[in-house]
Amino acid sequence: MKKRGKILFWGSAFLLLLNFASTIYLNITVPNPEWDWSRIDTSKVSFPDKFLWGAATSAYQIEGGLYNNNWYLWERTPQRFGVPRIARDEKCGLAANHYELYKEDVKLMAEFGLNAYRFSIEWSRIEPREGEFDQKAIEHYRDLIRRLKAAKIEPMITLHHFTDPIWFVDLGGWEKEQNLAYWMRYARRMFQEFQSEVTYWSTFNEFNLVPVSGWLEGGFPPGKTDFHLFATVSKHMLMGHVQTYLEFKKLSRTKKHQVGAILAILEARPYNRWFILDWLAAYYEERIWMQAMIEFFATGRYHVKLPFRDSFTYTDTDGIRAMDFFGINYYTRTAVVFNFFSPTFYYRIQLPGFPKTDMGWAIYPEGLYFAVKRYASLGVPIIITESGVADATDTIRARFIQQHLYVLSEILRAGYDVRGFYYWSLLDNFEWLEGFEKRFGLFEVDYKTFKRTLREGSKEYQKIIRQFPGRGGS
Ligand code: BGC
Repeated sequence: MKKRGKILFWGSAFLLLLNFASTIYLNITVPNPEWDWSRIDTSKVSFPDKFLWGAATSAYQIEGGLYNNNWYLWERTPQRFGVPRIARDEKCGLAANHYELYKEDVKLMAEFGLNAYRFSIEWSRIEPREGEFDQKAIEHYRDLIRRLKAAKIEPMITLHHFTDPIWFVDLGGWEKEQNLAYWMRYARRMFQEFQSEVTYWSTFNEFNLVPVSGWLEGGFPPGKTDFHLFATVSKHMLMGHVQTYLEFKKLSRTKKHQVGAILAILEARPYNRWFILDWLAAYYEERIWMQAMIEFFATGRYHVKLPFRDSFTYTDTDGIRAMDFFGINYYTRTAVVFNFFSPTFYYRIQLPGFPKTDMGWAIYPEGLYFAVKRYASLGVPIIITESGVADATDTIRARFIQQHLYVLSEILRAGYDVRGFYYWSLLDNFEWLEGFEKRFGLFEVDYKTFKRTLREGSKEYQKIIRQFPGRGGS
């Protein structure tokens, strides 16, 4: 008994010491830097002559009338005990009715002063049934593109922004490698249709977030929590990206097309900086969330692991720098807590001690600087393809914009090759699991009348664009 007590005592002392020594080392080598915003004059900015000043949207979130994809079904598939998937059991329905009102929306963009616009094409609209392409839908997007060009707004197409046609899901969707052929047929067709008018293309929006949310954490469709499937879907999306990139390079008549990879950048820090297991959890979380994919583009090797549970590796050297630009979607930074009982060993929470947006996300503008610094090593130009704030009362939007554009200006001053900034979002929209309550728009949308009203806070963005009007990209 006495001996056991001794072992227990010295064992615990050793573990405590180990925890202490390792966290001291990590606290020194991996700081969580904060800028002192009270001392920063955010009006001291400068931007190049040629810069993409944009706003971003996605089809499902604004177009309306999309009843043929996985999200339409997801809204109608309650969780256990009948709990709805979407806040207040909202349905996307007509969203911001942009499919009808797109001509007016292009006018709003032009009046605002944007020279760039990023939007997604809805696959389920273009190809409502397998192999049947809807020419009317194609002409709709052609008209949108032509109007943008006529208004001197550079279009950027996103081929996939979270939604899949129902027929594709029924065939096994992203879980099956052979289904990449369907994706490639759609992607190729879009490039053939629009390559003469559109220079900027992106394949998948946030193809790190999609597998994590859909197949590991289960909040997005298909709601699975299976590490192996998550990694398999990640692999297929990486393959889909690389194949699309190589194919577009081959098909490009002008060789001027810019094909990018867009990821959600969410750096993770341990919630308790003096607990080694929180550090380990943050390390694995960040790898699973984004770092493994970024490494794939640097080395051709994708490797994810949950210690003692599972691991997955995929290698393809064609993946190395398979992009003309790296798209950063940046909103916040998170904290990670170790949890032995969670299937992933961790859960994410918001960084304590920072002001929060309506999404509950910590406002950490300097994180954009650190992200660009970190990912500049990929060796390709960077575009900030999304950054924005949910702020229904419009009380923090102006400051949010000032701070983020100040950070952007500092990034450029430091010499990083960043080509543009797209505010999320042009309009209020359907915020996935959160429904309509979260208001990201430069323009407020009245969901009864669909009237658009420019928000006061958005004028900060307009002010900077007027001061440094830039030119689009091509
Ligand atoms: C997505 C958008 C979304 C935004 C705010 C991004 O991750 O691309 O579709 O609305 O974040 O949550």
